[in-house]
Amino acid sequence: MATVMITGANRGIGLEFTRHYAADGWTVLATCRNPIAPGELATIEGDIQVHGLDVTNHAQVDRLARDLDGTAIDLLINNAGIYGPRGMDADGMDYAAWEDVLRTNTLAPLKVAAAFTGHVAASTERKLITISSIMASIAENSGGGEYIYRSSKAAVNMVMKSFAIDVASRDIVVAMFHPGWVQTDMGGPQAAIDVATSVDGLTKAIAGLSAADNGKFFNYDGSPLPW
Ligand SMILES: NC(=O)c1ccc[n+]([C@@H]2O[C@H](COP(=O)([O-])OP(=O)(O)OC[C@H]3O[C@@H](n4cnc5c(N)ncnc54)[C@H](OP(=O)(O)O)[C@@H]3O)[C@@H](O)[C@H]2O)c1
Repeated sequence: MATVMITGANRGIGLEFTRHYAADGWTVLATCRNPIAPGELATIEGDIQVHGLDVTNHAQVDRLARDLDGTAIDLLINNAGIYGPRGMDADGMDYAAWEDVLRTNTLAPLKVAAAFTGHVAASTERKLITISSIMASIAENSGGGEYIYRSSKAAVNMVMKSFAIDVASRDIVVAMFHPGWVQTDMGGPQAAIDVATSVDGLTKAIAGLSAADNGKFFNYDGSPLPW
């Protein structure tokens, strides 16, 4: 059976990914910052291994990659993310917070992808997904503002586009997805869709990815999104 590794698996979209793939019979390498108290993650039935991983801690990323040496990972999902302070205008910008968001949303996905490339390349499916956002889209930016989050996700799209080209020779498919506006701690209760709808769409779209989709940016329903 296939193996999926998910970052930020303890709540929100990552938790729902875990629930979905575990119910489908996959082995789930569910990573979270606090594996001692993983909350709801501990209640999900299935073949789930919980591993501690703060994605901004590069030494910890390398250690987990070494611990999982020899494990083929069919699907790696860079899901962990933060929004940072909301509604900041250019005058009052919190530059330290911006750096934190970039470390989590932009730098960490590449670090995780690089550390686990060998595990993914050794698998059957060979897929590497990053959960981005429609807020990354320059073409779709009609609202302005949100410099911090928008730039972190636009940058991770560019990072993953380059990574896609660099690992294409190893037959790995790299893709970026907007999960929808989802009812999570980040999306808020007024968001448009629930986690089950988002993950149902995402998992179907991920299952349908082929080599022709390498380096592309999609909505959770599988439709293409403009950069
Ligand atoms: N919800 C939406 O409407 C929406 C829309 C577009 C894109 N997204 C993206 O979807 C992804 C999941 O978001 P969500 O809505 O599920 O958010 P969420 O409910 O706030 O959950 C975020 C998850 O990321 C984890 N995380 C944050 N920083 C981490 C770090 N340094 N190391 C490891 N884990 C870390 C959190 O762990 P802790 O519990 O330890 O904090 C949590 O598990 C994010 O990349 C987000 O940007 C969400």
